[in-house]
Amino acid sequence: MGKTIIISNRLPVQLQISNGSITAVPSVGGLATGMKSVHSGGDSLWIGWSGLTDEEIPKELAPQIDKALAEHGSSKVNLSQEEVDGFYFGFSNRTIWPLFHYFLEYSEFELDSWNTYKNVNQKFADAVLASSDEEDTIWIHDYQLMLVPQMVRKQRPNIAIGFFLHIPFPSYEIFRTLPWREEVLEGLLGSDLIGFHTYDYERHFLSSVRRLLGLEVHFNEIDVSNRLVKVDSFPMGIDYKKFSTAAKNHGNNKASEQSDLQRRLNKHKESTPDAKFILSIDRLDYTKGIAKRLNAFEYFLKKYPEYKEKVRLIILAVPSRSNVPQYQLLKREVDELVGRINGELATVSWTPIWYFYRSLPFENLIDLYTSSDIAWLTPIRDGMNLVAKEYIATRTDKTGVLILSEMAGSANEMNEALLINPNNFEQISESLYRAINMPVEEQKERNSQLQKRLERYNVEKWANDFMTSLREQRELDAINI
Ligand code: UDP
Ligand code: G6P
Repeated sequence: MGKTIIISNRLPVQLQISNGSITAVPSVGGLATGMKSVHSGGDSLWIGWSGLTDEEIPKELAPQIDKALAEHGSSKVNLSQEEVDGFYFGFSNRTIWPLFHYFLEYSEFELDSWNTYKNVNQKFADAVLASSDEEDTIWIHDYQLMLVPQMVRKQRPNIAIGFFLHIPFPSYEIFRTLPWREEVLEGLLGSDLIGFHTYDYERHFLSSVRRLLGLEVHFNEIDVSNRLVKVDSFPMGIDYKKFSTAAKNHGNNKASEQSDLQRRLNKHKESTPDAKFILSIDRLDYTKGIAKRLNAFEYFLKKYPEYKEKVRLIILAVPSRSNVPQYQLLKREVDELVGRINGELATVSWTPIWYFYRSLPFENLIDLYTSSDIAWLTPIRDGMNLVAKEYIATRTDKTGVLILSEMAGSANEMNEALLINPNNFEQISESLYRAINMPVEEQKERNSQLQKRLERYNVEKWANDFMTSLREQRELDAINI
């Protein structure tokens, strides 16, 4: 049996160079955090972009960079600044990302970026071809690399290829607006198995294949010349044990072992024991509904002034794709909203919103998850949303309330959360009222169910299910041929 090769734009770590030395920092985002657990357990190679452009890598550091990546079981695809601009900031994040999240008005259709996307996808395919042989299994990830399956298939007709999309696949009516829609579908159909987080994304994809390519679809299999391509949904889980164990250990920490952040959180809890911490963690992305959430928080405090000084919203907004204009605008909007709300409502002893614009190490995420009474996650669209799952996994005493947008893929498996429509302003703030007043018994009941499910359908099971399905599909196809 051959090895498994994982390919994604982001590697599990991002490299940074300062004063001639290289540091590897963990990548942020559901794909990297989820796949990292799968990757570290197995014998696999992960191919991707290091986060540095060719121009940023001094020649003399190149061998060290390769070595640093090899320590994480990874190997890099080199990209120039121009390629990163057209492929990553361009087609991936100014065309596909907004389109697939139903932000049609943000989607730009530029021929140059499309051409760069194609060229860079070919580079990734070449890197895969150079490190693999027919026995290997290739697992390609996400919207940045949708043409790679077909590019690899062309050179290695018999190799096993799986593809997983970590973002929504939009309805046909949205997808059909893409000028290069057929090429994208054909690119994906180079795979033996195509996976989505939810059945709805799968259904949308199959409908686009049928209507745009006129291919025959039998249940969830597509007839592509002499091959069958299987399409299925695999809701991604988290490394449940990692989060629940970290939370348990965190609870046993002596005061001297606590982080500065935890000490600050404790101090505030001690000074106002009946006050509630409300937490939201997202990349600073317009799909996450951060501005709407802030407005809803202000509305809540005005409607229920008795909660002034009794609640505090902690917003962790992780910097993301800051070269894309929509992200810059959002940053400005969020900065201004936080400033205005705090300026208007703060008292000498209370700031309603604590706003952190940075990424935090794992230990601090655990501090935040375990200290927060409520997680308030209101994306307008989200492929999955792992933060919702992580919050529940850390609630070792089963208290805590999760408020979650029904537009997140994870809502399908988290019915016991308070599910809200992120466009229903009143409902978003009412859900806060309900969460604050939810009896502890009810919290525990809801969270027990959620935890059981998350523990069972963890990320390892997700990866195993995908790989088993890929293997079965290959066996079936071999019989049919
Ligand atoms: N995360 C992180 N550092 C941070 C904040 C978040 O590593 O400072 C992680 C978080 O634990 C989660 C991921 O980033 O695993 C976010 O995944 P999610 O599916 O919620 O959203 P995405 O960013 O993929 O859209
Ligand atoms: C989402 C995407 C991933 C991406 C992550 C972080 O989870 O599905 O493919 O890696 O966001 O975004 P970035 O642009 O920093 O890789």
